[in-house]
Amino acid sequence: MDYSLKSPSIHFKKNARISSIEEYQELYQESITNPDTFWAREASELAWQKPWDEVLQWEAPDAKWFTNAKVNVSENCIDRHIIAGKGDKTAILWEGELGEKREISYKQLQVEVSRVANVLKAKGIIAGDKVLIYMPMIPEAAFAMLACARIGAVHTVVFGGFAADAISDRLADSQAKLIMTSDGGYRRGKVIELKAVVDKALEQPNCVESVIVFERTKQGVDMLVGRDDWYHDLVPSVSDDCPTQGFDSEHPLFILYTSGSTGKPKGILHTSGGYLVGTYVTSKYIFDLKDDDIYWCTADVGWITGHSYIVYGPLANGATQVMYEGAPNYPDFGRFWEIIERYKVSIFYTAPTAIRAFIKAGDDLVDKSDISSLRLLGTVGEPINPEAWDWYYHKIGQGNCPIVDTWWQTETGAIMIAPLPGCMDTKPGSATLPFFGIDADILDEQGNTCSTGEVGKLVIKQPWPSMLRGIYKNPQRFKEQYWSDYPNYYTVGDGAMRDEDGCIWITGRLDDVLNISGHRLGTAEVESALVEHDAVSEAAVVGKPHDIKGESIVAFVILKDGFEDSDELIIKLKAQVVKSIGALARPDEIYIVPGLPKTRSGKIMRRLLKELVKTGAVTGNVTTLEDSSIIDTIIDIVAL
Ligand code: WT7
Repeated sequence: MDYSLKSPSIHFKKNARISSIEEYQELYQESITNPDTFWAREASELAWQKPWDEVLQWEAPDAKWFTNAKVNVSENCIDRHIIAGKGDKTAILWEGELGEKREISYKQLQVEVSRVANVLKAKGIIAGDKVLIYMPMIPEAAFAMLACARIGAVHTVVFGGFAADAISDRLADSQAKLIMTSDGGYRRGKVIELKAVVDKALEQPNCVESVIVFERTKQGVDMLVGRDDWYHDLVPSVSDDCPTQGFDSEHPLFILYTSGSTGKPKGILHTSGGYLVGTYVTSKYIFDLKDDDIYWCTADVGWITGHSYIVYGPLANGATQVMYEGAPNYPDFGRFWEIIERYKVSIFYTAPTAIRAFIKAGDDLVDKSDISSLRLLGTVGEPINPEAWDWYYHKIGQGNCPIVDTWWQTETGAIMIAPLPGCMDTKPGSATLPFFGIDADILDEQGNTCSTGEVGKLVIKQPWPSMLRGIYKNPQRFKEQYWSDYPNYYTVGDGAMRDEDGCIWITGRLDDVLNISGHRLGTAEVESALVEHDAVSEAAVVGKPHDIKGESIVAFVILKDGFEDSDELIIKLKAQVVKSIGALARPDEIYIVPGLPKTRSGKIMRRLLKELVKTGAVTGNVTTLEDSSIIDTIIDIVAL
């Protein structure tokens, strides 16, 4: 394995936006000591309908960025480029899983987005109303998001892999009035029926007045007269002119639900001006985006990565990007490399879990395609193991492309820690240094900065433009969750350490949140899904290291009297979780146990279970347990 530091090539450096470490340091220094100057300069590259009074108003934990400015995010992602003469430039190169191709210019994007926006208006949607989007990876998903932004409606996108209950929970919390969906989407050649899931979700009480259905898979769906309309019956017939009204910089842009330590996901709220600036600036510098790049982020729009680095960041930069509908292994694991060759992708952003799956699939599939157009690679979602980094660097980057390992979260809105590719040496496994304006530190329990090599809590000590503005309808939880460990500092929830070069290594979550294939899932969410089953009285869920997914889900379940352990029951319990959350939460292993390791106050010691599934044993003191013999019982059950 080659763990040496990797410097960008002379060629890369020469053309990079930031090409020397001194330049980074100077700008970083300015961004921390003089954030107003730094952010005002960057923000002024965008279109504002009314300038701001102050760059930042900060009363922890409440930030207002670009106060009293008026801005339209959709205008910045579309109209701004047309005015600059780039209307014919391709915005989206879309490829369907079946191989269909669509090419959408910025001018066409304006037409499509304006039409959808006019349809939303005709359906009575006004600024501040919530619109739930549940769509596959088709351009219409981006149109829907940008249409909301255009008229000040607040979107809440739900990943197409989530189940009906996940939609109804989000409908109940957000009070969305309209849903944009499609009949279905393709995944590994199969039709995923989205509209049917929406119908099921709508059996629960809700405030939805209209459902707009894009026709993609044509398998036939139920349409409820008066509530449901086909996209193609509405969109083509309305005006393609929808003026971009300016909204307050702090006007909500979207709510995206993410897992935490409780049974229900929390609605992370992002607003307009600051989020736009944050995603714009990070895309520009970290991906070193240039006018002639072909950029491809393989995420789904249902996650924050899709929001920030498919829709808002790249489009705010006027980039040309590839959007792909389907799975990386359809028809085989060569699909991504074929796409890179076909569109001459120059910047490629994906997840470590995908890289590990590619390694397993074998190098032959890579060798079939010419991927020499690549110049920059990125990863996101979890720490990347050095083996995967090494393969990505040599096999995909051909030793020629810097890798930006980007650390950030749904809450941070934009990338926080990552190398600037033209000026930093990279190390396999480290996200390296904080981005401009990000005052990151690693603290011990007393609030002191950890020494080199010491693992502590990662915190952010100053506000940044794309930071979350709250948990929707739950200011108390917002304060407790993120702002209560240390006064006025944002606590990330990840452990981290600094090495002798000052580079930051993320060591993983410190809370009961799992990272399954780069997706966040709360142990409590899976537990409450299990407990919904009649047979279950109690459940504890932990993550176990998995060589492709990063972590797999292991559940320990106590049955109610009258129920017995059987293969059928295990299958049913797994199905229960899929039904209530979605396939991504399906437990890999379920063990029926007579009890769980609990403290005398009744708290489940998941830490012990985690060690047990990882190593098959539990070291250390178990005398604080209410019943320490349960550990041996569980060890025997797992070993069977
Ligand atoms: C959590 C955030 C950010 C978009 C995708 C996930 C982990 C994310 C990295 C990275 C190490 C990472 C952290 C973080 N994470 N990127 N480059 N290195 N860990 O967004 O669902 O909000 O999850 O993902 O644990 O807290 P998310």
